[in-house]
Amino acid sequence: MVSSLLLSALCAVVAAEDTWGPAVSFGPSKSTIIRAITTVQPGKAPAQPHAGTIIEPRCTTNTTKHGEKKRTRPNAGFLTIWPGMSNGTGNLIQTTLESHEEGKPRCGEKTGEWCVMASVFGDFPGLRTKQIDAKSQGVVKGTDKITIEYRLEKDDMTWTQTVTNTATKAVLSKLSTRSEPYMRGYGTGVECQHDCQGTIEPNYYTDTVITFKSPEPKFELHASGGLTNRTALYTTPVSEQGGRVWKVAKITIPAMYDKPICGGTA
Ligand SMILES: *[C@@H]1O[C@H](CO)[C@@H](O)[C@H](O)[C@H]1NC(C)=O
Ligand SMILES: *[C@@H]1O[C@H](CO)[C@@H](O)[C@H](O)[C@H]1NC(C)=O
Ligand SMILES: *[C@@H]1O[C@H](CO)[C@@H](O)[C@H](O)[C@H]1NC(C)=O
Repeated sequence: MVSSLLLSALCAVVAAEDTWGPAVSFGPSKSTIIRAITTVQPGKAPAQPHAGTIIEPRCTTNTTKHGEKKRTRPNAGFLTIWPGMSNGTGNLIQTTLESHEEGKPRCGEKTGEWCVMASVFGDFPGLRTKQIDAKSQGVVKGTDKITIEYRLEKDDMTWTQTVTNTATKAVLSKLSTRSEPYMRGYGTGVECQHDCQGTIEPNYYTDTVITFKSPEPKFELHASGGLTNRTALYTTPVSEQGGRVWKVAKITIPAMYDKPICGGTA
């Protein structure tokens, strides 16, 4: 179902209980990405249910199996939405907007808000963790717009993620990591862990600009619908400089659900 390089790279590492919402992506490209920027308006974050509450069968990957009964949730729900960039085997650069268990905020967010952080997922020699999050994190309201830039530095090795509030220009989060100059895929994710409450409002990505090292004449976005079959939409990509720069005016990631059904209360 999810055909992209980006998500197939992820599938090897995420837990079996993860489910996915609608997404768009492209890749693998022939040339490599040197910069990617987008503006996200995330919509309201759904409240994430506590451990011990009931999971509706339609909130899970088990929806295709017949006869599943309601069961008790072993872990609190966790939802994250992100634009991600990868080469399929190396680091996944991903600034994440996170929705944690209701009443247990990650960085001071209230119900309906997100916590945003630059982060990278991969293998880090000498470290036990597979995910490094920026220490700087910020609260994002559903109607806020944030600009997320991934830039390859002049050393051709270091990627810097910068997250700003689009209106105020305030920097919400920033992270630089050695993630190498081989990025060939970019896309969006709605990633649901522990049978989370999925999205209940659309996420919009506007003014997305991908810059390649050399012209990339063929650039096609692929859309998928995820667990609830609500396919993502996008405007036709437009190229500049013979295909070195590609622009997508608007990507719409539909809400997974019209209202909370997975045990959240908001
Ligand atoms: C599917 O449901 C069964 C019982 O209904 C449960 O034991 C199993 O863990 C579920 N699998 C996933 C991936 O959620
Ligand atoms: C992906 O990046 C890693 C370094 O991060 C590199 O070792 C690997 O060769 C790259 N793979 C491809 C297919 O470019
Ligand atoms: C999604 O679409 C597939 C194929 O058309 C169908 O089998 C499945 O029941 C649909 N799932 C939902 C949740 O609508």
